[in-house]
Order: sequence, then C-alpha cells, then structure tokens
Amino acid sequence: MFLRQDFIERHAILLLVLTLATVAVGGIVEIVPLFTIETTVEPVKGVRPYSPLELMGRDIYVREGCYLCHSQQVRALRDEVERYGHYSLAAESMYDHPFQWGSKRIGPDLARVGGKYSNDWHYAHLENPQAMVPESLMPHYAFLQQNALVYDDIAAHLRANRAVGVPYTDADITNARADLEAQADAQADTAGLLKRYPKAVSVAGAPGRVTEMDALVAYLQVLGTMVNFADTSEEQLRQ
Ligand code: HEC
Repeated sequence: MFLRQDFIERHAILLLVLTLATVAVGGIVEIVPLFTIETTVEPVKGVRPYSPLELMGRDIYVREGCYLCHSQQVRALRDEVERYGHYSLAAESMYDHPFQWGSKRIGPDLARVGGKYSNDWHYAHLENPQAMVPESLMPHYAFLQQNALVYDDIAAHLRANRAVGVPYTDADITNARADLEAQADAQADTAGLLKRYPKAVSVAGAPGRVTEMDALVAYLQVLGTMVNFADTSEEQLRQ
C-alpha cells in the first residue's frame, strides 16, 4: 500500500490523473441530485407567491440586513419545534429568491412570526425595540415609517419573479399596484387582494401614503402562516 503511494507520488502525471478522477467522483455525487431539485421540493397546500406589498417588504428586509440577526428556518429538533412551531418545509421558501434561511440567530427565528403579534406591536417594536422588550439588542428602524415606499416598478418586480419561476399570473401583474395599495389601506376593498393572496394581512398605513414600514410589517405578518398545520396531517399537506 505505502509502496504504491510512493510510486504514484513520484509520477506526477499519474498523480494528476488519479486526483482528477477522485475529484470528479466527488463532484458528480454533489451535482447530480441538483438535476432533480424540481421534484425534490414537494408542493404544499396554501403556499402562494407573496402579495405585492409583502414582496416589497421582503426587499426591505433584505436591504436592511435583518437576516444578519434573524434566521427563517425552524429545524426539526424538539427544542426548536417547541419554541417556534412546526419545523419549516422546503416548499415554504420555494418562492423566495433568494431564500432567507440565514445562518445566525442574534434575535429569534422569524420563520413563524406571522400572526404572533398584532400589527401595532410590530410598528412599535420596529420603531423602538427596547420599548417592547427592554433587554433587546435590536437596532431602531423608526426611519422606515418616514420613508415613502417606492413602488412605481411593482409590476416589473412581479415579472422578474415570474422569470425565475414564481407563478404570478397576468392578472396578478395587472393588479399589482391596486393590490399593493389595497393592502396598505385599512378602508380599502380587499376582496380581489384576498382572492389572489389568501391570508394577506392588511396593515394600518398612514392615510394617503404607503411607507416602507407598512410593507415590512405586511411581510412579517405572513411569515409561516400560509400552511395550515393545525387541521392537516402530513399526508394531506401534499397536494
Ligand atoms: C443586531 C441584531 C438585529 C438586527 C439587525 C435585527 N434584529 Fe430583530 N431582534 C433582535 C433581537 C435580539 C430580538 C429579540 C428581542 C426583541 O424582541 O427585540 C429581535 C426580535 C425581533 C422580532 C420579534 C421576534 C419574536 O418572535 O419575538 C421581530 C419581528 C424582529 N426582530 C424583526 C426584525 C426585522 C424586520 C429586522 C430588520 C429590519 C430586524 N429584526 C433586525 C436582533 C436584531
């Protein structure tokens, strides 16, 4: 054995060929499963694309780097499931480009934060986290309430997501602007919005304007709420 190793190491070309062969096997083992990724993610009932306002909120979440302190992935470990709820399913982030699983938890996991608090709690918490949780390390995001949301290009955002596989329909794109404004207006008629995006949570925007904070709260409120785990078994979850 050692003699053969000695022989191989003294013959550079042979060493090179054998090294390449070894690396190729490793590469194939890693790459081949990716060809079947489409069938690996099982579709799950209830998972839908983000509403236009949620999508903009998601962009703000990414822009502000919330993922640096918050993960969005409940692992299938007992302590996590007891603390946060049902472990995350792959399908729950299938329309996330890019996904927000994160790798660090300075704050708690947010994968199931939707519906855990009221809208008012989120506005107050984002404005001044220490007012809600005195020992919090989270920075203040009060300025998001001053910033008007820029959404002239909302239809283009939906089209871009459609280009990478999110199934927005033509009607979703035509109605993008109206849906966004309806979700940020407590008085608006949300029938169309809720038909296209079930469970979309209306946020109490300041009258007449949509702020970045509105979008972020709408996004936080939908996280982890699309799948109804309460009255569905694992089997029924599959479509
Ligand atoms: C420096 C790290 C840090 C950053 C950046 C950060 N957070 Fe936090 N966050 C925390 C900590 C710590 C807590 C726990 C204490 C608290 O509730 O304030 C927390 C709590 C939360 C909670 C309540 C979660 C729960 O289940 O109680 C939400 C919602 C939240 N953060 C959203 C955000 C959003 C949105 C952003 C980006 C705009 C953000 N955080 C950025 C550290 C951070």
